[in-house]
Amino acid sequence: MKFSRILGTGSYLPARVMTNADLESIVDTTDAWIRERTGIESRHLVADDETCCDLAEVASWRALESAGLRPSDIDLILVATTTPDQFFPSTACLLQQRLDIHGCPAFDLQAVCAGFVYAMDVADKYIRTGAAKHVLVVGSETFSRVLDWSDRATCVLFGDGAGAVVIGAADEPGIISTHIHADGTYKDLLQIPGGHGNGRPDAAFVEMRGNEVFRFAVTTLGRIVDETLEANGMTRDDIDWLIPHQANIRIIQATARKLDLPMDRVVVTVQEHGNTSSASIPLALDQAVRDGRVKRGETILMEAFGGGFTWGSVLAKY
Ligand code: ACO
Repeated sequence: MKFSRILGTGSYLPARVMTNADLESIVDTTDAWIRERTGIESRHLVADDETCCDLAEVASWRALESAGLRPSDIDLILVATTTPDQFFPSTACLLQQRLDIHGCPAFDLQAVCAGFVYAMDVADKYIRTGAAKHVLVVGSETFSRVLDWSDRATCVLFGDGAGAVVIGAADEPGIISTHIHADGTYKDLLQIPGGHGNGRPDAAFVEMRGNEVFRFAVTTLGRIVDETLEANGMTRDDIDWLIPHQANIRIIQATARKLDLPMDRVVVTVQEHGNTSSASIPLALDQAVRDGRVKRGETILMEAFGGGFTWGSVLAKY
């Protein structure tokens, strides 16, 4: 078996919903501004005692159930997150303990909004080389904890949530190709500048030059779509579904135009989820699988762009 394929999906959103109207009482903004510029109407936020691992755990159980597997079948756990419960152990190790799995490797991967495609790239390579048979890949985030709730330019954009997939070895793809990139030149455009490592533990909130991020995201995602299709000798007509990172409806629409895909072939959750960073693609995938839109055998293109900058894509037959 030299390929990997998605065996099951799961996701979880915390119960608390914050609407744009709720935000109007926190910062100087309006529902109309947020909808028009981002497409976001509401987002889910964690409760005070809820953590990244709590969200990841529910999403993981759901993905395992949909794959028809038990935790003991998993031989690698990857958690993509920028908002782990604690510095260490990794959220992947905390999750392993919750799932009562012992001994298999487990590690976190940090590529901000591109974290899930990075983790899928790693999972696919582990399986293709025979180093793993069943990989649990999770994107889980509690971005509400790293937002400056007095900065209207960022606090309206993000939400919390988790999505998970189980990837398994297969004779046929499955995952057709993965493509990941980074360019640290742009580190200052989107960042949480503080950390214990640089002696600025208090500067632990998102800072963003939104306009510039927007322009880079649109151009770069256009390029990654071309790269992915060209690498496989495919054309836009071969794509059944675009499952993009959910940052902003205008960025998503620009990528759909590039692919000449009508918006009813694009899975959009940003209106209800906001930007859940590494969780957004597996959340959108799970929603579209469960409501019957994405079917077995269809070709899906997942793509993401995030802080770093980091970006990438996963092309797969579901
Ligand atoms: N409510 C009302 N007004 C606001 C708000 C708000 N929440 N936020 C900013 N404004 C104001 C600004 O202060 C500015 O006012 P001014 O003209 O008086 O100075 C005005 O709106 C325009 O601000 P811009 O930043 O130019 O607005 P823009 O059209 O670029 O939209 C946005 C801002 C939505 C952040 C956009 O730049 C964007 O989506 N960028 C991409 C950022 C992103 O998605 N980052 C997530 C991580 S990366 C990724 O996931 C792709």
